[in-house]
Amino acid sequence: MNPLTDLTLDQLRSRTSVKWTRYDADALPMWVAEMDVLLAPAIRETLERAIRDGDTGYPGSAPMIDAFAGFADRRWGWNVDGAAVQPVQSVITGYVDAFLLVTEPGEEIIVTPPVYPPFYSYLTQAGRVVREAPLTEELRLDFDALEEAFLAATAPREPGGPARSAGFLLCNPHNPGGAVHTRAELEAVAALAATHGVRVVSDEIHAPLVYSGSTFTPYTTVAGGETGLALHSASKAFNLAAMPGAMLVAGSAAEEWLAIYRSGTHHWPTHYGTLTAAVAYAECDAWLDGLVAGLEENRDALAELVAETLPGVSVSHNQGTYLAWLDFRGTSDAGGPDLGDDPSEVLYRDGRVVLNPGPSFGTGGAGHARLNFATPPAVLQEGVRRIATVVAP
Ligand SMILES: Cc1ncc(COP(=O)(O)O)c(C=O)c1O
Repeated sequence: MNPLTDLTLDQLRSRTSVKWTRYDADALPMWVAEMDVLLAPAIRETLERAIRDGDTGYPGSAPMIDAFAGFADRRWGWNVDGAAVQPVQSVITGYVDAFLLVTEPGEEIIVTPPVYPPFYSYLTQAGRVVREAPLTEELRLDFDALEEAFLAATAPREPGGPARSAGFLLCNPHNPGGAVHTRAELEAVAALAATHGVRVVSDEIHAPLVYSGSTFTPYTTVAGGETGLALHSASKAFNLAAMPGAMLVAGSAAEEWLAIYRSGTHHWPTHYGTLTAAVAYAECDAWLDGLVAGLEENRDALAELVAETLPGVSVSHNQGTYLAWLDFRGTSDAGGPDLGDDPSEVLYRDGRVVLNPGPSFGTGGAGHARLNFATPPAVLQEGVRRIATVVAP
């Protein structure tokens, strides 16, 4: 069963979430990472029971952690030690708090753009400096750029002074474009991090959404990755953003970092975040399999539609995630209009379709936009048709 075929556009338009309400009602939203699906039945039933019973208190996290450990073992052969899992409110609060505890204001966190915009904003707000090590044109990690960034970020403030602390926020799998880092790539990250003394946090929120031919590798399981932290949440794969909840998973040699984390006070998940994640991880494998298969079909359909109807546009071949990266830089060479640095502006104004602006993803974002293909196939077709009205009028 493909959960992406349950809803019509009319039904989706009655939603009140940000995706469906921020922009004009006649525009087609294909931006923020919400999926156009119904909940897996077991999750819906859990929530219905909790609401009916007035079960609206504070969270109890143990069932979520147990269920996640089972899921990680079944899906990835990853033996998670429940004692090394810290429940956190969300992935974003998890990585921000983790870095704040081991770096000083003015110290640097490295990111690999184009990347999820909140990799910049929250850390910057917290007084850290975000340094970029851009991906290659193929949207893979660039190890020369990473090494240069690690060196610069840890360089002493003055000659002979102590090395500065620095962090690397890895997106595994990568949003946007869906690169699923290989074990060899992750080992190379870990080796570089060890050489330069850089702390690694791996954001693995998209890990359950990996397509055939690719394999998700948990960062903390690769050689050298044990010193890092990873963040997991059911919120992307099971569409639970309304109910925040996430887990910080410490590598087997990250006890000290975990202890520092636990010595502080942090925001907890919501009760519904832990309740729904527990059911998602324990009982919804078949639903997830149907979803991933449907997403993969959408990815392939999108590639065909782009090739056939959007001259001069190219799209990422996502190995994972439902967040495609569209490159509009070739439209004028193909006889169409030049869409400039931020194609999403003209696509919204003239095409009535909403994509995320490429420049908000950092270096490499100009001339691009991000498209969310976790939507019914008919809506995906309509979205591309609207883009075509601008690109190939
Ligand atoms: C890479 C990445 N990290 C984190 C998040 C948000 O996670 P949370 O809502 O748990 O903070 C998203 C949401 O799209 C994401 O794509």
